[in-house]
Amino acid sequence: MLTDEMRETLIQHAVQAMQWAYAPYSNYSVGAAVLTSSGKIYDGVNVENAVFPLTLCAERVAIFKAVSQGEKEFEAIAVATRNGGTPCGSCRQVMAEFGTDTLVLIANQDGKLLHEYTVAELLPESFGEDDLHQS
Ligand code: THU
Repeated sequence: MLTDEMRETLIQHAVQAMQWAYAPYSNYSVGAAVLTSSGKIYDGVNVENAVFPLTLCAERVAIFKAVSQGEKEFEAIAVATRNGGTPCGSCRQVMAEFGTDTLVLIANQDGKLLHEYTVAELLPESFGEDDLHQS
C-alpha cells in the first residue's frame, strides 16, 4: 500500500534527480526514483551519448541500480520531467520484467503528480518470462 506521503517522497526524489540528468543533446532532463518493497529508494537520470542510440533512460538507470544492489521487487516508480512525459516502450518492458502491478507515478518538475498507472496499464499483454516456457 503506497501512502500519499510515500508518493510525495518518491516524486521528490525523482524531481531532485533531474538536476543530474546528462542531456546535452535533447535538453530534456528526466529523473526517476524506484521504491523497493524493502523500502529503499534508488534514483536515476537519463544519460545521453554523442552516439545517440547509446542513451539510457532515467527509468532504466534507476531500475538497474536497484537490481544491481539485489532489489527485484518494486512498489512504485516515479518519473519527473518538465512536461509530465510518460516512459518509453523500452522502459515499460524493463518495468514489466519485475512486475506488472508496480505503480508508475508521472510528475512534473514542480513535483505535481499528473498521472498514476500500473505497469500493466502502460504495457498491456506484455511479453514476459512465462511466454518463454509455453509451447
Ligand atoms: N528519456 C527518458 O529518460 N525516459 C523515457 O522514458 C523517455 C525518454 C530520455 C532519453 C533522452 O535522453 C531524452 O529523454 C529525450 O528522448
